[in-house]
Amino acid sequence: MKRNTIIMAIAAMLTIGLVIASCVSTKVTDKSGSQLWSENCQRCHNTPPASAFTNTQWEVINTHMRQRAMLTETEYKKITEFMQAGD
Ligand code: HEC
Repeated sequence: MKRNTIIMAIAAMLTIGLVIASCVSTKVTDKSGSQLWSENCQRCHNTPPASAFTNTQWEVINTHMRQRAMLTETEYKKITEFMQAGD
């Protein structure tokens, strides 16, 4: 009986952990372009303002920086749209 209680407790903790993990990953995709930009693009260097480059240049820069910052497709798109809107 005691053994079963321990197993149940572990199963409950794992379930709670999974629920928390899925909430966190939803939040990441909910982040705005400006949020993702400020969290990812100043790790390695100061980030120039959106107005420093044209829309086409931002596409090239972010294709390159996407590799460096290990961004997902969605993060890359959001950041690029944010930089292009700031022109
Ligand atoms: C892992 C480190 C790293 C991260 C994260 C990073 N960069 Fe960079 N960035 C670099 C390095 C290194 C260079 C110098 C050029 C090169 O060798 O790639 C650079 C250069 C640049 C330049 C200069 C390009 C030019 O032609 O003058 C811009 C603009 C830039 N990064 C924007 C960004 C943006 C926007 C992000 C976020 C999506 C970002 N970076 C994330 C490392 C990083």
